[in-house]
Amino acid sequence: MGRLQKKIMIELLLVGIGSGNPDHLTGEAVAALHSADVVLIPRKGTDKRALADLRRRLCAGILSNRQTKVVEFDLPRRDIDNPAYLDGVAHWHSAITDAWARLIGQHAPQGGRVALMVWGDPALYDSSLRIADRLRAHGIPLTCRVVPGISSLQMLAAAFAIPLNTVGAPFLVTTGRRLRTDGWPAGVDTVIVMLDGTCAFQSLDPEGITIYWAAYLGMPCEIRRSGLLAEVGVEIVAERETARRTHGWIMDTYLLRRATPAR
Ligand SMILES: C[S@@+](CC[C@H](N)C(=O)[O-])C[C@H]1O[C@@H](n2cnc3c(N)ncnc32)[C@H](O)[C@@H]1O
Repeated sequence: MGRLQKKIMIELLLVGIGSGNPDHLTGEAVAALHSADVVLIPRKGTDKRALADLRRRLCAGILSNRQTKVVEFDLPRRDIDNPAYLDGVAHWHSAITDAWARLIGQHAPQGGRVALMVWGDPALYDSSLRIADRLRAHGIPLTCRVVPGISSLQMLAAAFAIPLNTVGAPFLVTTGRRLRTDGWPAGVDTVIVMLDGTCAFQSLDPEGITIYWAAYLGMPCEIRRSGLLAEVGVEIVAERETARRTHGWIMDTYLLRRATPAR
């Protein structure tokens, strides 16, 4: 766990930065970043360079406080070929924990405030809070503060001006992998899907389902498509692939709503 001594104290700031639009940064997020001794910016490889660029621009725009050190690092990659998904994730989290511990030891050896700019909101499909737990479990003296951010889920609802739920009903947020393996979840008429690299909606019977799909939400290249799944599903698959090739990466999410409420 690097050169970190047990006596020192780290305050880890997990700062939600929104989902791609610099204007998503809240006043609380700006104040938190201003107060940091170190801001860590993850690099996610050349194909996702745009995401590190956005964080860099945000830092450059708000960190007039010259004492704040901005440190970039290569985020370890998950082995997507590992057939045991949860094992692969645990291994990946362990590699990220080691990377964070090393960076904290190098750049805050006497303790202090270390901030990470987290995409969207830190509580939604993001591993930062779990990595913080791992650091504590390794004996690193750490407190954690979360600054909420605008999630892609909220952006999706706003983009189409739709509510996430129907009256008095629950909705479920899941991953493309789970939708593909488990099918439509029981007890809900609205499902929101994230982290879907393969358009898992193709595995559903499209009858009676409306889809609201968007990619690059909040960014200048944002694209949206909605309609009956039976009518627009195939076009979304093609449009997604074209966009992915054009930009070299894609982040998309969608809401599916069934006409007949599940009871
Ligand atoms: C690792 S999760 C991070 C979610 C993030 N913490 C949030 O609050 O939205 C990444 C997934 O979020 C969704 N996502 C994030 N940003 C997005 C954007 N700007 N447009 C569309 N989907 C986005 C995609 O489903 C993507 O695969």
